[in-house]
Amino acid sequence: MIFVTGRGKGAIEDYFDVAFECETFQRLRGKDLTALEGTLLEPGKAIFIRQQEPLGLGHAIWCARDAVGDEPFAVLLPDELMKGAPGQGCMRQMVEAYGRVGGNLVCALEIPMEQTVSYGVIDPGKREGALMEVKGLVEKPAADAAPSNFIMPGRYILQPDIMEVLAMQGRGSGGEIQLTDAMAALIGKQSFHGVTFNGRRFDCGSKVGYIEANLALALQRDDLSQSIREFLFNELTEEQLVPTDRNDV
Ligand code: G1P
Repeated sequence: MIFVTGRGKGAIEDYFDVAFECETFQRLRGKDLTALEGTLLEPGKAIFIRQQEPLGLGHAIWCARDAVGDEPFAVLLPDELMKGAPGQGCMRQMVEAYGRVGGNLVCALEIPMEQTVSYGVIDPGKREGALMEVKGLVEKPAADAAPSNFIMPGRYILQPDIMEVLAMQGRGSGGEIQLTDAMAALIGKQSFHGVTFNGRRFDCGSKVGYIEANLALALQRDDLSQSIREFLFNELTEEQLVPTDRNDV
């Protein structure tokens, strides 16, 4: 796992480390620490790289070029949460598709047209099951300029050649070095497909998405579900339960 982080984000490294003093005391007191198991990576299996300037996603990935080396690699943007059935997560579905078509793959997700301005958008070609050819990619187009309402929700499998393109990539949307632009430059030279994900997606980069993700996951947990249901039931009046149009914040 290669984490591209930045100044002031040391808590991410600490999260995947052993909190020796705290854990030792907890163990001595007989506390159950099995909840920590998922946070421990094997020694030597985590690399932390700092992106020294906020120059965009493309630049962040390029910062990891030496750690990635000359191999295909996956990119997961952590502000997007993808929830599939157990053992059928988004990246698992993409790796299966990669086994069939190889090349470069992006996750593809349909959203309301008016939201394209917040995302990288796919110009789709032929579709077959969950796979679609990618004919073009545009970063954050307005709804009337977007080639479709299929966006890229932050999951990619890429060939290492993208690093050379990123090294030369000028600034794009928002004045940042965009992964979308670098990928677009590879279309036609390498195979490029979109994979629609069978599962739920939460954009935790928005306040509403973040809260929805917490609620949806809590409602699936045996230890939390009952209390959360009771809380919501008591909190919401009957009028509030009627869905209304809303704008994400
Ligand atoms: C980034 C990518 C964009 C992608 C989005 C997914 O945008 O540049 O192509 O659709 O993540 O969340 P950002 O959210 O960093 O503006």
